[in-house]
Amino acid sequence: MPSFVDSNALKISIIGAAGGIGQAMCLLLKAQLHTLIPNDANSDPKEMNMHIHMALYDVNNDAVRGVATDLSHIDTPVTLSSHSPNDAEGLRDCLIDTDLIVVPAGFPRKPGMTRDDLFIKNAEIISGLADNIAAYCDMSKIFILLISNPVNSLIPLMGQRLVHHHPSSDIERRIMGVTKLDIVRASTFLHQLSITDGIEKRTNNMPEIPVIGGHSGDTIIPLFSRAKIYPKLSRAQIKYLIHRVQTGGDEVVKAKNGQGSATLSMALAAHKVVMKFSSLLLGLRKSIHGIYYVSLWSHSKNQPICSDSNILIPLIDGCKYFAIPVYINKQGTYAIEYQIIEKMADFERSSLLPNSISKIKANIETGLAYSRQ
Ligand code: NAD
Ligand code: LMR
Repeated sequence: MPSFVDSNALKISIIGAAGGIGQAMCLLLKAQLHTLIPNDANSDPKEMNMHIHMALYDVNNDAVRGVATDLSHIDTPVTLSSHSPNDAEGLRDCLIDTDLIVVPAGFPRKPGMTRDDLFIKNAEIISGLADNIAAYCDMSKIFILLISNPVNSLIPLMGQRLVHHHPSSDIERRIMGVTKLDIVRASTFLHQLSITDGIEKRTNNMPEIPVIGGHSGDTIIPLFSRAKIYPKLSRAQIKYLIHRVQTGGDEVVKAKNGQGSATLSMALAAHKVVMKFSSLLLGLRKSIHGIYYVSLWSHSKNQPICSDSNILIPLIDGCKYFAIPVYINKQGTYAIEYQIIEKMADFERSSLLPNSISKIKANIETGLAYSRQ
């Protein structure tokens, strides 16, 4: 395993790497991460010496060893290591010196369950993981991307566990709930509808639809009023699309009929997010922009996460966690695109927003109450 004393190295720790999402995401990352690094002779020599390491951890000992060995035969320069509770210091070795922790660990839904039904089991996993992160990681620099459900409650829970161990840390600026799959779905479902309904469009690019709020049912707020390349979307079509994005997860759970939830589309969505954060952490970009479920308030410092929180929090009725476009640098969230709320169409603001906010607030309280136990 390479030494991570080298400031040009990026270590990514994947917790739950042997699961449905974990395996497919690791495949995409092993195949693609190195493409971020410039490889032409005119590049900055510092960039030429960059390397990336993926540390895979799972409680399923044999599976994670097998996945890492299998992936290690793929001909890219990204290096790999495998860690499990079978190793004396499995989780510690995976987490030590890491820059980015990606968490698809936890139980997936079965038909008839809501994401909230996963809370008790997955809260135990995430809270144990948070205690280990607090013990082994550099709280002043790590980023955490949380995929496990229910995201709306587990982000507050993880943030509070870490702050409990490190009361003066600003870690809440660097913990992101991954809601990218909702954005991927919004884009895909609109494109599909445009073909079946023959909707007139202005370009052949895939549409980019912001999806804000939370990641469950009607906490998910897809903003199809922003579908500028489809100027003639009808109200009925928009209503159909909103419902389809809000129930996209159920569609897969139902189709898999007891064999889990979305894994491949989620792996693709997570891969897009990890690529972006990797370019930031390698120093190839000074800042990145994207929609994540973030804390708007630093509970450790009892102050806004950044000055834009002061504008956003009243706009969303005092809600302190929300999926919203944010600007992120190596220190974490530094600006929030709160204007997206001001620009919402009337029907989005009056019918989608209040419902989402009241449910997210309840989900946040569930996470915070657990962390206080
Ligand atoms: P899975 O059961 O296939 O994989 C989960 C993996 O986590 C397993 O390999 C398991 O051994 C591992 N694991 C369990 N406890 C662990 C621990 N303490 N430490 C490390 N690893 C542990 O499930 P999946 O389909 O990959 O889904 C994982 C999670 O992601 C679920 O909670 C699911 O609801 C969620 N999910 C979120 C989104 C999203 O958009 N955010 C999308 C899809 C799924
Ligand atoms: C999804 O949106 O597909 C995930 O959150 C998994 C689920 O339980 O629906």
